[in-house]
Amino acid sequence: MEDIPKALRKKYQPQKAKSLSPLLLAGGVFMVSLGIITLGLAFWLRPQQVQNLITEPAPEPIVTEQPTVTSIPEPLDNILGHLQYTEAPLDDLVAITPDQRIKLRSAAAERFLQMQADAQAEGIILVPISGFRSLDDQENIFFGIKEERGQITTQRAEVSAPPGYSEHHTGYAIDIGDGKVPATHLQPGFAQTEAFLWLQANAARYSFELSFPENNPQGINYEPWHWRFVGNSHSLETFYRARNLNE
Ligand code: DAL
Ligand code: ZN
Repeated sequence: MEDIPKALRKKYQPQKAKSLSPLLLAGGVFMVSLGIITLGLAFWLRPQQVQNLITEPAPEPIVTEQPTVTSIPEPLDNILGHLQYTEAPLDDLVAITPDQRIKLRSAAAERFLQMQADAQAEGIILVPISGFRSLDDQENIFFGIKEERGQITTQRAEVSAPPGYSEHHTGYAIDIGDGKVPATHLQPGFAQTEAFLWLQANAARYSFELSFPENNPQGINYEPWHWRFVGNSHSLETFYRARNLNE
C-alpha cells in the first residue's frame, strides 16, 4: 500500500468481504431440500406407480364358491297315508248320472262317459257309485261310518280318507261298480268282476288309472273300484306332485 500513491490508495483499498444475508441462506436451503424431495419422489414413484395410484381400482373381493342351495319343498300334509287335496270348483263339476247326483270335473266327466259308452258297447256295465265329494260329505263318511262300525282311527283310515284328504275332493276320482253284480260294489270281490277286468285292460285309453293298487306306497287298502283321471296337466299335477312330496 505504501507503494501506491496516496491519491490512488482509496481506489485500491481492499474490499470487506460481503456477508450473505440469513434470509437468502434459508431460502437457498429450502429450494435445495425441495429439489431433493422431488427427485426422491420421482425415483420411488415411477410413472406406472404414479398412474396406478390415480387409476388403480379397488382390489377385487375374494369370492369363495357358494354351494348350490336346492330348495326343499315343504312336504304336503299327510294323515295316515292320505294326502291333502282341495275341493274342486263347483262351476267345473258336471253330472255323470241321470239323477245328477254324481259329478266329476268336466274333463274327467267327458272321458268317463265315453269310456262307459264304449264298455256298454261290449256288454260291460260300468256303474258310477261316487264321484266328487265335499269336505262335509267326507266328514260323514269318515267319522259317521267309523262310529257306526265301531272302528278305531287307523282301521278306518285303511279304507277311507279323513275330510280334506280324499281324492274324491278333486273331482277327478270315481268309484266304479259292475252293474251286473251290485253285491260287489265297494267290495274286494269287485276285482273278480268283468267290469274290473275290462277297466284293467282299457281304462288307460281314457286316462283313468287305479289309485290304490295292491301294496300301494301309501299303505291304503287295495281299492279295485277307485279310479282317478290323469288326462290333463291339472289332474296329473294334483296327484303326482302330492305323491312325490310324500314318498
Ligand atoms: N277312498 C280313498 C282312500 C279316498 O277317498 O281318497
Ligand atoms: Zn273312492
